[in-house]
Amino acid sequence: MKKLLIGLLTLVPSLAMAAGGAPVPYQANIDLTDTESLQRGAKVFMESCFGCHSAQYQRYNRVADDLNISYSDMLQNYMVNDAKIGELMVNSVDNEQAAKWFGAAPPDLTLVARVRGEDWVYSYLKTFYADETRPFGVNNTVFPSVGMPHVLQQYQGIATVDSVDEMGRVTLKTDENGNVITTGGSMNAQEYDQLVKDLTGFLVYSADPVKLERESLGKWVLGFLFIFFIISYLLKKEYWKDVH
Ligand code: HEC
Repeated sequence: MKKLLIGLLTLVPSLAMAAGGAPVPYQANIDLTDTESLQRGAKVFMESCFGCHSAQYQRYNRVADDLNISYSDMLQNYMVNDAKIGELMVNSVDNEQAAKWFGAAPPDLTLVARVRGEDWVYSYLKTFYADETRPFGVNNTVFPSVGMPHVLQQYQGIATVDSVDEMGRVTLKTDENGNVITTGGSMNAQEYDQLVKDLTGFLVYSADPVKLERESLGKWVLGFLFIFFIISYLLKKEYWKDVH
């Protein structure tokens, strides 16, 4: 038993390390009750990510139901192919071809926020930087030598390296507020942070859709316990009245 415990305890940090790359620099602070943010995230996902990544354990109608999107809105403004509303969110990328283009096939993203962690996903989308030695001219501080191009560059612009430590970990140039300095890009730092937060929120929701339900159920359970407590208290007073 003791051995098993020690084994488990030593496994945890090594699992965390296995994610590789630099320590995760940013915190996402996702709020799953912010439905509008999740809706925006779903839209960006469909526009900017779905071309390469599926979310194969999600259905369009489930997302619509969970995020308060009407089916007609979903069909017209979110879905980019002629899939039916009840279908799984799968694109038509040929993984073998994609692996040739990018050096790795784009993985399914339904569970990525659970596998990598929400802060990792958030940081990953913020830390692409210019690197002429890479096939697409970009690299990433939390995912060194990544095969994915910086698909949100039109919004964020491109960052540059400030320093590299003895472990080869890259730090990007930031301004006095800690925002990454970028050139080009249509958004300022706050707008881009919000976009990435929306997107990460959608992926966090996708990785655990039941969490939304659990959280609202949790409120009912607490409410019930509260009422139950008051009733029990009144009952106790009633019973003990005669005993004294
Ligand atoms: C042009 C194709 C393409 C597009 C568009 C794209 N990606 Fe990727 N993405 C890739 C490839 C290829 C990889 C695998 C990289 C590797 O393993 O080196 C990847 C990897 C990732 C990973 C890391 C997954 C993991 O755990 O290893 C995340 C997270 C990710 N993409 C998120 C996104 C998001 C969010 C978007 C939309 C803003 C997006 N991607 C758009 C091609 C793409």
